[in-house]
Amino acid sequence: MLRFQPSLRTTRFLLRPFLAEDAPDLQELAGAREIADTTISIPHPYSLAFAKSWIAGLSHFFRAGTGIDFAIILRESKELIGSVALRDIDRENEQAELGFWIGVSWWGAGCATEAASEVTRFGFDRLSLNRIYAYYMVRNPAAGAVLLKLGMKQEGLLRQRVRKSGAFEDVALSALLRDDVRAT
Ligand SMILES: CC(C)(COP(=O)(O)OP(=O)(O)OC[C@H]1O[C@@H](n2cnc3c(N)ncnc32)[C@H](O)[C@@H]1OP(=O)(O)O)[C@@H](O)C(=O)NCCC(=O)NCCS
Repeated sequence: MLRFQPSLRTTRFLLRPFLAEDAPDLQELAGAREIADTTISIPHPYSLAFAKSWIAGLSHFFRAGTGIDFAIILRESKELIGSVALRDIDRENEQAELGFWIGVSWWGAGCATEAASEVTRFGFDRLSLNRIYAYYMVRNPAAGAVLLKLGMKQEGLLRQRVRKSGAFEDVALSALLRDDVRAT
């Protein structure tokens, strides 16, 4: 694993580590009901205390080599607009789970695709991963569309895999292999 978390750049974004001062913006963006609705681990309501402790906890995952989270920052305005991460980094099998969310007012502008593509490239090139996978709720076609644009292939359907607000939800599993990227 890397000693320091690098920042990455895309056309529109700086992907940098979260900072303690991002907590109020994080609370506002991730606190939208629409974000919690289709994510497995984002609570609602989302308190400022939760935002602060979530940011503080990220360095533990980075140091342990098991996770790397990026704040998605608009290069022009320096605004935080979302988050993208590689989690459950598994060195034995050289794989990790990709996760992301984008603030509601930026939906539909290609932001998730742009940020997640860069982090996927980072995962293969800099972390030497062999497989990057993602789970998404079947009733969340926008997430499925993003993963498809990254080149991921659906591998499975996990029926009623999670319980969200009391209801069991079907979850799809998609993945991209290093070999898939080489082949394109
Ligand atoms: C899923 C999410 C990250 C997408 O972010 P985004 O920046 O709007 O995504 P993009 O603009 O890069 O791509 C969205 C794609 O979904 C498509 N899409 C949106 N709504 C759709 C729908 N109801 N049915 C089918 N496709 C849909 C868009 O057309 C677009 O595809 P296209 O470029 O081929 O037209 C965002 O909606 C979000 O943060 N949701 C809440 C958190 C979440 O669900 N995270 C994913 C967990 S795995």
